[in-house]
Amino acid sequence: MAILVTGAAGFIGSAVVKRLLESGESVVGLDNHNAYYDPSLKEARLSRLSTYSCYEHLRVDVADREAMKAIFTRYAFKRVIHLAAQVGVRYSIENPAAYIDSNLVGFANILEGCRQQAIEHLVYASSSSVYGANEQMPFSTHHTVDHPISLYAATKKANEAMAHTYSHLYGIPTTGLRFFTVYGPWGRPDMALFKFTQAILAGEAIPVYHFGQHRRDFTYIDDIVEGIIRVLEKPAQSNPQWSGLAPDPATSKAPWRLYNIGNQQPIVLMDYIAALENALGITANKQLLPMQPGDIPDTYADVEDLVEQFGYQPATRVEDGVAEFVRWYRNFYRV
Ligand SMILES: NC(=O)c1ccc[n+]([C@@H]2O[C@H](COP(=O)([O-])OP(=O)(O)OC[C@H]3O[C@@H](n4cnc5c(N)ncnc54)[C@H](O)[C@@H]3O)[C@@H](O)[C@H]2O)c1
Repeated sequence: MAILVTGAAGFIGSAVVKRLLESGESVVGLDNHNAYYDPSLKEARLSRLSTYSCYEHLRVDVADREAMKAIFTRYAFKRVIHLAAQVGVRYSIENPAAYIDSNLVGFANILEGCRQQAIEHLVYASSSSVYGANEQMPFSTHHTVDHPISLYAATKKANEAMAHTYSHLYGIPTTGLRFFTVYGPWGRPDMALFKFTQAILAGEAIPVYHFGQHRRDFTYIDDIVEGIIRVLEKPAQSNPQWSGLAPDPATSKAPWRLYNIGNQQPIVLMDYIAALENALGITANKQLLPMQPGDIPDTYADVEDLVEQFGYQPATRVEDGVAEFVRWYRNFYRV
């Protein structure tokens, strides 16, 4: 009985698969290797996994209903970690259809597959972006999140609602994890740390949105992986105290749960850049710009539920995590 991990050639997915393989699990990974960013980076991440005999990789689109049905018929999965998605807040303004296909149709296909097999636990990626227009800090899963400000965020919020119906109707334990700006080695070329590093090393100016005043709860990849693995091992349970008269948005009578995974320590963008300058030994030429449409000014995760229920403790300081990224980047790109 293998674990299915979707988005396995992605930044977080490949790190999760590696960790599962190291602990002796059999894993089937799935990814469509789309060209949203350099597919050769996805191939390189995959080459780290192909050396394990307990790993099988499928090049499939989660939005392909027939192909997904066939996979859930062919393999017996005990658990599913669903990380495949069209990512990026800004790109959802340019190409909304990609989000409908991968994040809504794809998610529905995953839920159907889990129903077909009576899966023990589905863990899926949500996002801090669901907090949208919320301003009460820190962001808590016990707050309502009904005001998304990008289509990306709306699809992630929709995933949480779709999962609830399957947990309610079919008793499938589902847990949604709202990740807060994940960074680290093998990271995504469309994210700030990667783009800044590339530009600084090329002697180019870096665009600093919101004049560098954004606060982000930057979370190191190893801390995210640790959180996912801990959650996976404990299938979501119903909350016996849950009441429809005062509904808690993070739990339910159904076996359905939501958690934040963040660092619980927001950092001002300028300080993040300072950590990068320090790791590179170069001072960046900063082009200060206003905020971009769809962006949230600040993110700050309340992770108390994860700490209490899973003993989760984010352990990586931004200075250390950024230095690890720079070490990887220089080595991988030979700069
Ligand atoms: N990285 C972050 O800071 C962050 C923050 C919040 C939420 N998330 C969520 O975490 C998950 C993983 O993100 P990531 O940073 O590793 O991104 P990523 O783009 O590196 O990984 C996603 C992978 O999914 C694959 N994919 C996309 N659409 C697909 C489809 N239709 N069928 C099959 N595969 C498909 C891509 O090829 C990619 O390899 C995503 O669901 C994302 O929304 C990430």
